[in-house]
Amino acid sequence: MLEQLRYYINGQAASVPRYVLEQVILGIFSWVPSVVGIGLRALAYKLIMKLDGVAAIESRVRIAFAGNIQLGSGVYLDRDVYLHALPGGITIGNDTFLMHHTMLHVFNFRNLPQAKISIGRNCFIGEFNVIRGQGGVTIGNDVYTGPMVQIVAVNHVYSDPNRPIREQGITAKGITIEDDVWLGANVTVVDGVTVGRGSIIGAGSVVTKDIPPYSIAVGTPAKPIKSRQDLDLSAFEAAEVFFGELEEIR
Ligand SMILES: CC(C)(COP(=O)(O)OP(=O)(O)OC[C@H]1O[C@@H](n2cnc3c(N)ncnc32)[C@H](O)[C@@H]1OP(=O)(O)O)[C@@H](O)C(=O)NCCC(=O)NCCS
Repeated sequence: MLEQLRYYINGQAASVPRYVLEQVILGIFSWVPSVVGIGLRALAYKLIMKLDGVAAIESRVRIAFAGNIQLGSGVYLDRDVYLHALPGGITIGNDTFLMHHTMLHVFNFRNLPQAKISIGRNCFIGEFNVIRGQGGVTIGNDVYTGPMVQIVAVNHVYSDPNRPIREQGITAKGITIEDDVWLGANVTVVDGVTVGRGSIIGAGSVVTKDIPPYSIAVGTPAKPIKSRQDLDLSAFEAAEVFFGELEEIR
């Protein structure tokens, strides 16, 4: 029983004193609703994580290994976001938004040196995204992801058909999403892939190979169908384009 308790706490915080400290701060402040809660957390969470400026953290954001998390100024974490920052940690750049139920899990129970999740500035990570960082996930600046996107930097080894897959270890090379990429709804990016700067991945696609910069790629496996540097602009000129307050603020 004691062994199981130790195993559980090792999966939640860097040490027993850190576990107690983080749970006390989170227990007091994580549920407080409204703008009052956002203000309290912007101050109190400085005791347990690295906050470069003021981050807006909604109620019910779940956090483990808070000491391995660094948030830039103007970061917004929507309700029910889950950050699990095992060694390697999670870094989120200035003015990046994580929408509700998004999960960033470094998942580094094997102490891999390359494990981490790093997201740049001015990104928008959509609802219910899942990012697993065993191999290291690096997301650049100005990246936009639709709902239900999955970026999973790990594969299970399955070479021996006579042993359960879960006993055969993992490979974890890492994923890079370069600046100004848009991943459509329900895109999955598998391990070892780089999505080049300025690319667009169509909704529902599975990205299994590197995508050259400025590609528009669709399907499973995702294949480039055109380049953004070679577009027929007449369709855009005909379309009604809308801007919002967020673009104006930025
Ligand atoms: C990829 C996308 C941006 C369209 O790009 P586009 O340059 O306008 O492409 P087109 O509509 O001209 O389509 C070109 C071809 O790709 C196909 N295609 C487009 N999107 C596709 C997708 N997601 N999956 C598979 N094929 C797709 C089209 O059917 C067309 O095929 P065809 O030439 O055989 O007729 C758009 O289809 C898309 O997937 N948007 C994502 C929407 C989304 O997730 N929004 C959430 C907000 S983040």
